[in-house]
Amino acid sequence: MTAPGTIHGIGLGPGAADLMSVRADRLVRAATHVAYFRKAGRAGHARRIVEGLLRPDAVELPMEYPVTTEIPVDDPAYAAALAPFYAAWADRLAAIATHGHDVAVLCEGDPFFYGSFMHLHTRLAGRVPVAVVPGITGMSACWTATGQPVTWGDDALTVLSAVLPEAELAARMCGSEALVVMKLGRNLPKVRRALAAAGLTARAWYIEQGAMPGERALPLSDKADDAAPYFSMIVVHGKGRRP
Ligand SMILES: C[S@@+](CC[C@H](N)C(=O)[O-])C[C@H]1O[C@@H](n2cnc3c(N)ncnc32)[C@H](O)[C@@H]1O
Repeated sequence: MTAPGTIHGIGLGPGAADLMSVRADRLVRAATHVAYFRKAGRAGHARRIVEGLLRPDAVELPMEYPVTTEIPVDDPAYAAALAPFYAAWADRLAAIATHGHDVAVLCEGDPFFYGSFMHLHTRLAGRVPVAVVPGITGMSACWTATGQPVTWGDDALTVLSAVLPEAELAARMCGSEALVVMKLGRNLPKVRRALAAAGLTARAWYIEQGAMPGERALPLSDKADDAAPYFSMIVVHGKGRRP
């Protein structure tokens, strides 16, 4: 009997290849089977991070989402499209591992922090060996791009998804010390209004493409337009104890 291979969910960090961990770099360079999520017709951000690092004979397995932003996430059609997609890929990767091959699943940032890999992980754990390599998160790159620490002393850090309804965003922002708002993109106008309702506009920073080519960080009040790419977020720095 062949010993099963391991499916590695590999956190690649926020974008620059030299922000990958030594373990991630070693696994990526050695991988014979490399899987990664991407929007149909796109190269895939995680795949771009490892450009030039893969073995020439590596088998590539692009996992193309059946939907991304075309259907709202709270529409039952969204889960109905994605659940079978994740199940089919979990089956396919499990079959490769069962034949004795390791699989590297490339993940932007950290796999367990709002990453799609977690939907494979829940379907694979207990069936075949699965291992996760943590990565530097996008938010870490983004607050670094602002040139200021994000949490001081005993500051609590609130992390929100901009997909939440405006009233819920505003309610959760109120009383926040340090704050990160992920998944900004087309939600920027809504997030601006919620920040204003919570009295945080003056302290908010807008960051796009953290640790990637085209990185930009500026106070939100200096951003005149509401155009925000997928890789963008808001950071509000804490004001905690400073000896
Ligand atoms: C699905 S989440 C993935 C988070 C990722 N697993 C991580 O550890 O950061 C995608 C969101 O993360 C944020 N993000 C991740 N990396 C980023 C980066 N390098 N620059 C700006 N935003 C980033 C954006 O808000 C984006 O919409």
